[in-house]
Amino acid sequence: MKTTTKLALLGLTLASVCVAGRAATAAENWENLCASCHGEDGKAQTKQGKKLKIRDYSDAAVQAELKDEEMLKAILEGVTENGKERMKAFKDELEKPDTEAKDLVDFIRKLKA
Ligand code: HEC
Repeated sequence: MKTTTKLALLGLTLASVCVAGRAATAAENWENLCASCHGEDGKAQTKQGKKLKIRDYSDAAVQAELKDEEMLKAILEGVTENGKERMKAFKDELEKPDTEAKDLVDFIRKLKA
């Protein structure tokens, strides 16, 4: 087989692997969807994080205040305070909302310092 043909086949294989919808890992989702506000490390020391006064999720005291079910709900349905949206719902941004939101909760738990 000619090298060009081999390369073309390889390209096709890679492309099909990429389009086959798979759930993103929690680390990928955190990086792509959450870190702009919550920070890579969960400390929310980002421009958005400071502006929105987001709590430091690496802080053990903050972690203790967080309840798994509420975190899950926040991720899927968003966070509102006095009728104002603080964080949007991510249900529609996730390939497999239920699994990925649960994985994100586990991921956030591991941010505890
Ligand atoms: C536009 C900024 C923004 C983005 C992006 C964002 N959040 Fe939030 N998030 C907030 C704000 C604001 C709060 C409420 C303040 C706080 O908890 O300190 C919050 C609260 C939370 C809470 C706490 C809910 C509770 O139980 O009190 C969790 C968990 C959370 N976010 C997870 C995520 C995850 C996971 C993502 C990505 C899929 C994400 N956030 C993306 C702004 C954001």
